[in-house]
Order: sequence, then C-alpha cells, then structure tokens
Amino acid sequence: MAKIMISGATGLLGRALLKELSKEHDTVGLGFSRAQPPILKVDLFDKKALQQVFSENTPEFFIHSAAERNPDKFDNDPESSIKLNCAVTEQIARCCEQFGCKLIFISTDYVFDGRNPPYAEDAATSPLNLYGESKARSEAMLLKDYPSAAIARIPVLYGEVNALKESAVTIIAEQLIKGVRAFDHDSLRFPTNTADIARVLRQAIEVIGKELNGVYHISAQEMMTKLEMAKTMAPALNIDSATLVAAEIDENAAPRPKDCALKDTRLCATGIEIDSRFSDAINTVLAPHLSH
Ligand SMILES: NC(=O)c1ccc[n+]([C@@H]2O[C@H](COP(=O)([O-])OP(=O)(O)OC[C@H]3O[C@@H](n4cnc5c(N)ncnc54)[C@H](OP(=O)(O)O)[C@@H]3O)[C@@H](O)[C@H]2O)c1
Repeated sequence: MAKIMISGATGLLGRALLKELSKEHDTVGLGFSRAQPPILKVDLFDKKALQQVFSENTPEFFIHSAAERNPDKFDNDPESSIKLNCAVTEQIARCCEQFGCKLIFISTDYVFDGRNPPYAEDAATSPLNLYGESKARSEAMLLKDYPSAAIARIPVLYGEVNALKESAVTIIAEQLIKGVRAFDHDSLRFPTNTADIARVLRQAIEVIGKELNGVYHISAQEMMTKLEMAKTMAPALNIDSATLVAAEIDENAAPRPKDCALKDTRLCATGIEIDSRFSDAINTVLAPHLSH
C-alpha cells in the first residue's frame, strides 16, 4: 500500500484518481473551491500551506492534476493561469524533492502542434496555444531540474461528470439536447475515459513505482472528430444521427492542434494500456444525466 497525494481531487480527473487509488492505497485528496472533507482545502498558490500539507502527510507519490486546462480561459486571464500551471508545479516539485516523494505531473497532448502525428514520448514539443505552452514549459523545467519526476501526457477526457458541460466531450451531449446539430469535423481527437487513466496510473505506481520517470503517454486509440462523437451519442438521446452535420471552423477560439495522436511506447511495453471502447463507456457516463 502506497501513500498517494492527489492535487485537483475535486476536478474531472482528480475525482477518478481518488476513487481508483483509494481502493488499494492510502490517499489524500487536495482541492480548493469545491473541497469538502475528507478532501483537504489547500490553495496551491499558498507556499506555506503546501509545505504544511506535505510535512503533515509525507506522501510517497504526488499526482499533480490541478491546473487551468481551458485554452480559452488562458486568453482571458493568462497571468494566474500560467502561475497555476507553471510556478505552482515548480513549487510542488521542490516539496516532492524535499520530502523524498515521487512526482507524477499530469500534462496534455496540446504540447504538440498536431502537424506530425503520431507523437512518441521523446518528440519535440511545439504548442499552438498558451495552455499548451504552459504545460510544455513545466515539462521542460521538470525534465531539466527534477529528472526523477514523471510526466503523464493525456488527451481530451470524459468520465463521471457533475454536469454535462464539465468535459469537452460530454458538453457535446448537452449541445445535442439544446438542439445543436453542427459539430467540428476537422480536428481529430482521442477521447479517453478518466477511469482508464486512473487505472493505468494505479498500475504504473504498483508495477513501476518509484522507478517511474520522464514522459509517458496514456491515451485511448479510437480517433474521432466532435461530429463523430456526437453521432455516437445521438441514439442515447433519441436523436437521428443522420441529421448531424459538419460545422464551420470557429475563428474566434484559441488555436487548437489538428491531430495530436499520442504513441504510448513506454507503458504499453510493460503491458499497461487502455482497451475500453468509447461507444460503450460514453453511454455509462451519460446515463445519470438523461431523463428517460
Ligand atoms: N479535461 C481534459 O480534457 C484534459 C485533457 C488533457 C489534459 N488534462 C489535464 O488533466 C489535469 C486534470 O484536468 P481536469 O479536467 O480534472 O481539470 P478540472 O476539472 O478543471 O479541475 C481542476 C482542479 O484544479 C484545482 N485547482 C484550481 N486552482 C487551484 C488552486 N489555486 N489551488 C488548489 N487547487 C486548484 C480545482 O480545485 P477546485 O475546483 O476545488 O477549486 C480542481 O480540482 C490537468 O492538469 C489538465 O491540464 C485535462
């Protein structure tokens, strides 16, 4: 049994990590505005509070999942978003070093520009937007100054949501319910279930443990556009998928990469991989939010 601390434990991925890791391990979840016991409320900008939670709990692993992850929010408030994604990550890396704790930093496929897929773990980063840049900057800092840290790059997520708008995938169902029929059919995505990411990270901790280091890719392998995701969800919403069409490209949104397929060469080699199917998992995720 390992002692594992998880930041962002009130968030989409953090909740799944806490649920999965608590089955076999001693976990401490950290949250902020949504924190309710047993999740500890810690403002990660508060260096003293961060230091205190490390010294009181002495975790062996720290999964740093807290972040600002919406590329459009970066354009509205770049300063605090960059501080959260970069300065806070560095502070956490320092605490991990001080307390002999293995850091697992959650990063994103948006560190790539999407022009040369699939990307291996050692491919050069080339972010298109500020969000991707903030994560690429933290990755570079960790690889240079904290080489024992592990970095898990993941693609767009879906999973148990409090509201459909919480994930970039389930929001498509909300849009369908509201009558939207046109969806992006240009960008290629690899929607991945948070429960699968949590299981893979649990296995990685159990099998590789403190030897984890450097970059790992964790991704489902089914490639879909938002239109294709919408067509997969439509039957559960009693919508005829034949009525769904490709949308015009939104020129006002922060630029997003076209295809960031992540090649998982490191964890796959140890037999740890994702094999669940979007069409099965998404219906389970949507079910609690459907009235019929
Ligand atoms: N969602 C995706 O599609 C996706 C795709 C690729 C990579 N990722 C990465 O995966 C990780 C998890 O993303 P997510 O979707 O779970 O994010 P999320 O749902 O937006 O959750 C963000 C978390 O960060 C916490 N947080 C924000 N500011 C904080 C502060 N000052 N102090 C302490 N905690 C703070 C939030 O706590 P409160 O809510 O309690 O304030 C929340 O738990 C992120 O690193 C993200 O970049 C996500």
